[in-house]
Amino acid sequence: MQIQENISLKPYNTFGIDAMARLFATFSNADELAELLTQESQLRTLILGGGSNILLTNHFDGLVLKNEIKGINEVHEDNEYVYVKVGAGGNWHQFVLHCINRNWGGVENLSLIPGNVGASPMQNIGAYGVELNDVFFSLEAYHINESKVLTFSRNDCEFGYRESIFKRKYKDQFVILNVTYQLRKHPIFNTSYGAIEQELERINVKELSIKVISDTVINIRSSKLPNPSEIGNAGSFFKNPEISNNEFTNLKIQFPAIVGYPLPNGNIKLAAGWLIENCGPEAGISWKGYRVGDAGCHGSQALVLVNYGNASGEDIYKLSNRIKASVKENFSVDLEKEVNIL
Ligand code: FAD
Ligand code: EPU
Repeated sequence: MQIQENISLKPYNTFGIDAMARLFATFSNADELAELLTQESQLRTLILGGGSNILLTNHFDGLVLKNEIKGINEVHEDNEYVYVKVGAGGNWHQFVLHCINRNWGGVENLSLIPGNVGASPMQNIGAYGVELNDVFFSLEAYHINESKVLTFSRNDCEFGYRESIFKRKYKDQFVILNVTYQLRKHPIFNTSYGAIEQELERINVKELSIKVISDTVINIRSSKLPNPSEIGNAGSFFKNPEISNNEFTNLKIQFPAIVGYPLPNGNIKLAAGWLIENCGPEAGISWKGYRVGDAGCHGSQALVLVNYGNASGEDIYKLSNRIKASVKENFSVDLEKEVNIL
């Protein structure tokens, strides 16, 4: 837990942005974290997991603390569930594989999401019909100003679509230390997401299992999402926007192919990828596959912005603002960023 000075954050963010941290340290338990925060209490801090949902637009003139709290422990079980407590610094997909090997159901649809366990409740990670919320039981977090550990239940976290209390009311106030998940001993398969059904049909699956679902999700993801170890990115750059049914009906008259999904509250969730693909920097050119210098909009998934090598965070941020303005101009829809901008 030694504090280092002037460290490049390039290996610590999946966009591959070469920004510097004034100070950098790792911690492996709550006591180490407390000591680091006391030593540098006057500095701005950034808690870092796998760096797969941040865009560094500047050098970080403060203390970057990388969470390396590890461990996967079964803490309780009842007839239906096993309760598993996982250190926030553990890799998310390794945890998913741990569950699949033991036939514990619930996280298989969330296979291959980059990043660490501690960030999973931050934005209530979701994919292929499942959200973290569905398997979450509780978490323990360190209150930075009050120097104490608090426990949060599912209700306390106020989960929403890519949202939690830690992104809003308690922003920058807590460090998540561990998360307890509630996993099914007798898995229930969720294949409702269209792309999963299609892929299962394509590979002609005879018998479902959580391993088959995980492999299917991995196939789909690998076919369209860029691998951050090859092309820098942070997954979806924007959220899929929610609009009223009336607004959707009006848009559909103008753009019959527009993609939207009904929500339980009667509103429609639009596919932001479709909106971005169907406008562009000039007439007849789509943002999808567009590139300016080393900053680009991915050619297989328009919702993903990419760094082809030496783009700065500012380059990516500027491109994102042009795309946001273009979607607003063409469809009168506001896109909200999903990635944390620093
Ligand atoms: P980081 O980027 O390190 O941190 C994200 C935010 O959380 C920061 O504000 C950070 O300060 C804070 N934070 C991190 N750890 C802690 C902690 N222990 N305590 C307090 N604050 C903390 N997301 C999805 O939801 N679904 C997807 O399908 C998906 N696909 C992706 C695909 C690709 C190719 C990529 C690159 C990203 C994808 N993401 C997806 C986004 C990302 O993987 C998730 O948001 C992930 O949970 C981020 O984890 P991380 O550890 O890398 O977080
Ligand atoms: N689409 C296009 N063009 C594109 C991309 C998408 O037209 O370039 C349309 C297509 O109609 C497609 C639909 O959008 O069928 C949905 O696309 P996809 O299944 O790829 O999902 P998404 O809505 O773009 C969301 C999440 C992803 C998550 C997938 C699967 C958000 C912001 N993104 O993407 O999460 O993996 O669904 O569930 O909700 C992330 O958060 O970083 C992320 C990758």
